[in-house]
Amino acid sequence: MERIGVLTGGGDCPGLNAVIRAVARRAFQNNIKVIGIKNGWKGLINADTTELDLGSVSGILPKGGTILGTSRTNPYKNKDDVQKVIDNYKKLNLDALVAIGGEDTLGVANKLFKENKGINVVGVPKTIDNDLNATDFTFGFDTAVNIATEAIDRLHTTAESHHRIMVVEIMGRHAGWIALHAGLASGADVILIPEVPIDLDEVCEILKKRHARGKGFSIVAVAEGAQFKAGQVVTQEEKLDAFGHVRLGGVGERLAEEIEKRTKFETRVTVLGHVQRGGSPTAFDRVLGTRFGVKAMELVLAKKWGYMASLHGTEIVEVPLQDAVGTLKTVDLKFYEMAKAFFG
Ligand code: F6P
Repeated sequence: MERIGVLTGGGDCPGLNAVIRAVARRAFQNNIKVIGIKNGWKGLINADTTELDLGSVSGILPKGGTILGTSRTNPYKNKDDVQKVIDNYKKLNLDALVAIGGEDTLGVANKLFKENKGINVVGVPKTIDNDLNATDFTFGFDTAVNIATEAIDRLHTTAESHHRIMVVEIMGRHAGWIALHAGLASGADVILIPEVPIDLDEVCEILKKRHARGKGFSIVAVAEGAQFKAGQVVTQEEKLDAFGHVRLGGVGERLAEEIEKRTKFETRVTVLGHVQRGGSPTAFDRVLGTRFGVKAMELVLAKKWGYMASLHGTEIVEVPLQDAVGTLKTVDLKFYEMAKAFFG
């Protein structure tokens, strides 16, 4: 084992740099060179790389984003690109590749592994959405939840002063993890998630009852993937990305209009957007990212290709990449039912 590559793909996420640092430092301790591949799979298609050294991974723990850059490039969109990935892996003399990403990036890693293309790959699970199977948590999620929680805390004071309803739209794609955790942590009066279609009558009833008992303001936390009718998400545009995803957004605006129309309470919307993904990771995400990075290097040294680092309870374990991709980890409905007991 002499040279390994490391890449970060998909949406950026706080904690990525902690993983890169852990992988690099563990590799250096084992006299292994680390080639940083720029901008996810795009960097392997174009052989766009930079060799990492102790200096380049120093001081990056508190930094958000990824020092390697990222992209949503899918080499499987174009057969030539898959071949370029394989050729460049060989040209770069890599003995292994650590792919840090979510369902899409790890899906590509798993395909390359299964097709036996000569790429020795291990994975590290990343996403603020926490929707990746086979791991209890992904790093980045805790930071996003804390940002959304603080935002809702702030919205409380202005909502109360103005006697308004505040609808806050929260990221998470087709899973309601961020909205549910941040909503619970900040005492949102209604939390709406993609896993359960929105019942407008029920929502307005809760808000009216709350106002009737003298609470002149309310907070509604809505996940961007929440649906008025099962299977119908609200999107910003019809175009799909390279992995076939729609661009979600706008459900908050639609919801606020309906709430104001039905309850006659003044209603405003805040879309938290990419703020949830930016900035410094929480201590939890830095530690989880570091533990994942260390595990990834353990897998590399043991030549356990096609596996991913994963959190089970408090333990870091390895799971086949196959178990992580394909189906999403959505919110447990019993957990949502529990949260509902605090609505209003
Ligand atoms: O998957 C992370 C995520 O932030 C989702 O919560 C969100 O829907 C999506 O990425 C936004 O993607 P982009 O950065 O491409 O707009």
